[in-house]
Amino acid sequence: MNLLRTKPIVAHKPSDLSRCLTAFDLTLLGIGAIIGAGIFVLTGVAAATKAGPAIVLSYVFAGFACAFAALAYAELSSAIGGCGSAYGYAYAGLGEFIAWVIGWDLILEYGMSTPTVAIGWSGYVANGLATLGFLIPDAFLHAPGDGGIVNLPALLIIVLLAILLSIGVQVSAHFNAAMVFVKLLAITVFIVVASGNIDPAHWTPFLPNGWSGVTAGAAYIFFAYIGFDAVSTAAEECVNPRRDLPIGILASLGVCTVIYVVVSALLTGIVPYTTLNVPSPVADVMLRLGHHWASGFIAAGAIAGLTTVMLVLFYGLTRIFFAMSRDGLLPPVFSTVHARTRTPITVIAATGMIMALVAGFIPMEQVTKLVNFGTLAAFVLVCFGVIMLRHTHPDLPRPFRTPFSPLVPILGILFCGYLMASLPVTTWMAFVVWLAIGLIFYFGYSRTHSVLTHTP
Ligand code: ALA
Repeated sequence: MNLLRTKPIVAHKPSDLSRCLTAFDLTLLGIGAIIGAGIFVLTGVAAATKAGPAIVLSYVFAGFACAFAALAYAELSSAIGGCGSAYGYAYAGLGEFIAWVIGWDLILEYGMSTPTVAIGWSGYVANGLATLGFLIPDAFLHAPGDGGIVNLPALLIIVLLAILLSIGVQVSAHFNAAMVFVKLLAITVFIVVASGNIDPAHWTPFLPNGWSGVTAGAAYIFFAYIGFDAVSTAAEECVNPRRDLPIGILASLGVCTVIYVVVSALLTGIVPYTTLNVPSPVADVMLRLGHHWASGFIAAGAIAGLTTVMLVLFYGLTRIFFAMSRDGLLPPVFSTVHARTRTPITVIAATGMIMALVAGFIPMEQVTKLVNFGTLAAFVLVCFGVIMLRHTHPDLPRPFRTPFSPLVPILGILFCGYLMASLPVTTWMAFVVWLAIGLIFYFGYSRTHSVLTHTP
């Protein structure tokens, strides 16, 4: 059995999907996917229970890991393209088996982070409605395993986003751009108001749990960076993918890293870090400082922010399914495109239904770390892919080249590997189970249905 069989590289081949996205759209798509539950929800927990004020260093550390991986993504997406993102690059360079592993990782990353963010969204919306006098009964705000019947808002938002994505990618991009604007405005309000309320005494002790607190914090808030890679799933829908994809990936990651470092420094500078273990820390601290209007505005920005994250990750998930199905590794029904909207409606409906049920009926607290682990594993393989492809395809045209290769990809592998090592053993075990399920599917279905099996 040849586990290393590969597809020939066909860079940026024509596609049935509609080409309409520019570099600016892609950057907004990236910011749309990146800034969400990580900064608006998880930062507080990570600062209070792991890193303390040194959460800033956690963001810098995770930011470096992502920057190295982003450079690798930029090279591969400009040279190879395809809406399958890292899955497609691996197929060309590392063989079908590794490609399957990465694709399976990406399904975990996008498929599980969307319901996770939907649950955070539900919490923010329920709070917002409560302040306006509309109380949603508790039973309809929690999954059965969490003391309720169903998390109705979380379920419904995923259904709504499925409808939006089915209508067309351009409509979705416009909606995304408007929402990104609202969330950036909310963050600006936070930065301006918080800057006038800093008490440097809150930054001492800076490292309450030492370096291990910083790395444990980094492995946890890594979730905040997930999404920049989703830009690469738009390869078949952008006007000039060779130029625009690297710009979209690197610009969105750069903007978000700066925002994260500034916001986390301010957050720990205006209140004691020990008080940040709350579900909506960024809006909460504004309330504590007496800025009610700012708190309300930031909560609205968070709702907009979480919406765009779900939208782009959901979009990415459907494109990964689309690419894997086109290659025969998933059933062919997932790669049919609707004649009028030119969107993959079947896969949007199928994955939307599953994610809506997961968001409505399954408590997700523990899933965050698993999502981080799966994403880090995919990043490691992408960095490895750059090194391998330089070796196996030295003459491949590369409009963007990772600087200082192989040093930068190796640093990417080391940084991401270090973050994986900082996650608990239970997360490693859960990942092994996920991988085992994927391998059963691969050898039970994909291997025999693969286009490669049927190509003479
Ligand atoms: N980066 C995304 C978020 O923080 C997944 O919500």
